[in-house]
Formats: sequence, C-alpha cells, structure tokens
Amino acid sequence: MAYESEPILESISTLGESLKKAPEIKGVPTGIKGLDELFFTTEFKRGKPVKKPLGGIPQYAVVNLTGVSDTGKSLMAEQFAVKRASEGDAVCFITVETTAPFVSAALKERARAMGVKDISTIDQNIIIIDAASYHRLREYIPSLLDTLAYAIKQYKIKYVVIDSITGLYESREMMARQVVRQLFNFMKKWYQTAIFVSQKRSGHEELSPEAAGGYAVAHIVDCTIVLAKQFIRSRYDESLYGLPIGELIRLFRIDGCRMCGHDTSTHVMYITEAGLVEIGPTLKELRETKK
Ligand SMILES: Nc1ncnc2c1ncn2[C@@H]1O[C@H](COP(=O)(O)OP(=O)(O)OP(=O)(O)O)[C@@H](O)[C@H]1O
Ligand SMILES: [Mg+2]
Repeated sequence: MAYESEPILESISTLGESLKKAPEIKGVPTGIKGLDELFFTTEFKRGKPVKKPLGGIPQYAVVNLTGVSDTGKSLMAEQFAVKRASEGDAVCFITVETTAPFVSAALKERARAMGVKDISTIDQNIIIIDAASYHRLREYIPSLLDTLAYAIKQYKIKYVVIDSITGLYESREMMARQVVRQLFNFMKKWYQTAIFVSQKRSGHEELSPEAAGGYAVAHIVDCTIVLAKQFIRSRYDESLYGLPIGELIRLFRIDGCRMCGHDTSTHVMYITEAGLVEIGPTLKELRETKK
C-alpha cells in the first residue's frame, strides 16, 4: 500500500494525557491453584520497594500458554474460563481444534471437578465460537474477529480464550507474526483479558518460550507461560528432581510478563486425578523437601 507522507497528529500525546486512559493493574483469579500468587506489583513504602501480590494474572493482559502436546494447556485454559464464568463474567472460548460439543463437555467436566455449585452459570456465561467446524473462521482472521466483536457486544464479554492460536496459522507458519499481531491488537482495542494457547514443536527446547511460528508469539503478547513434561531418564535427573527413573515430572515457568512482576522459578506442576492443573513448589523447594 502506498501512503502519502503526512504527520499523523492523533498519534502524538503527552504522557499525562495517555495516562488518563491507562487501566490500573488488577489481578484476575484464574482457578488454577498456586498460579495467582506468582504475579505481583511493587509499591514504595518509605522509599523501600514492597511486593504486593496481584492475586491473579494481570487484567487486560494477553497471556500465551505454550508447551508440547499433553502438557495441560487445554486443562488450564478451561479452568480459567470456568472460574471467570462461575464468578459471573462472560467468557468467549474460541475452539480451533475440538468442535463445540466436545469442548462444552470438557468445560462441564472441569466445572464439576472445580466444585462449581451452580453449574448453570457456566452454561450462560461461556460463549463458544466454533472455529473447528467453520473453516472460514480459521482461514480468514477478519471473519473470526468480526464474529468475536459481535459476540463481545452481544454478551458483554470480558475474557477470551483461544485454544489454540497455532491452529489459525497451521499450514502457513510464516504468517504467525501477522496473525498473532492482529489478534493481540484486537484484544487491546476491546479491553479483553485473554489466554492464547500455542503449541510447541517437539524439537523446541522444552522450557523456552519458542512456539510453532518461532518466537513471534512470545514477542507480541504481554506474558508467556511455558509448560513442559519430562521423563526421569538418568541418575542425574533422579538427583535433580528427587524422583526414580521412569517417572514423569511436569514443569511450569512464567517466562516473562511485561505488565507486572512475576515469579521466575521453574515449578513442579500436577494434573490431579480429577483433571485439574495445580502449580506446586519450585524445583529448589522440591529438592530441599526430598533431602
Ligand atoms: N479428565 C482428566 N482427568 C485426568 N487427567 C486428565 C484429564 N484430562 C486430561 N488429563 C491429563 O492431562 C494431560 C494434558 O491434557 P491437555 O488436553 O490439557 O493437554 P494439551 O497441553 O492441551 O495438549 P495438546 O497440545 O495436545 O492439545 C493429558 O495428557 C492427560 O494425561
Ligand atoms: Mg490442548
């Protein structure tokens, strides 16, 4: 596209003017045990910095949740949707790989496991967009965003989950940056707090923020959470994780968050028998308890 060279005066503002539109940072409880305490802000008391826990992921953040297959990404995304909906908020769940009936069954299962008292609240408050069944939504991002804008207005949606964004650029990974940028800008414009699930290829380093499409996703979003699973294969692993050879250990790490402070340690992560993700102690804490 050829542009005429002219100044865009609307793009200029003083910091003071922009600040009036800046939202105050608040935490959004996620329904994932052990996660909400890992984000914080810093306040100054008598000139000294004091950590103030956020009690959730930062509101209006776009969080990228990445990991290889079977690491618990969908479970976490579902828990988040159920938690918000059970507290009366409208949540849009954009399903890209699994069709709406299967996702709704999974969400119901998650709600039961989480002990949601009035299950009917989630029936009302979770709005599913089925991009798995409607190819056009998957292949043509403007259609997806128009559909989402309609749903946001209609249902007063505040939270968006996309499982997964990788499915939106599956056969065209070189488009990842452009697709993710469009989705990210949309969430900002509509003041949504969002979880974008993204898939890592098995060749990627387990705990790095790299996902299919390269580092594009992590660079664009506000926050990246990495999930991994590791088998105990050697004596070294045994002593590192305090588990016998052949066992599986699940790992969790917040790779970065530009909106607030956060824990940077690698934690053990559990998937309970009921199918709920819980964040456990740091590896250092785990080793100390096993001594
Ligand atoms: N209802 C359940 N009860 C117990 N464990 C479950 C349940 N559902 C899933 N799991 C376990 O959690 C693991 C992770 O599941 P999940 O669907 O969240 O993975 P994922 O990271 O989204 O994988 P993918 O990239 O393939 O979509 C499963 O492999 C399974 O071991
Ligand atoms: Mg999944």
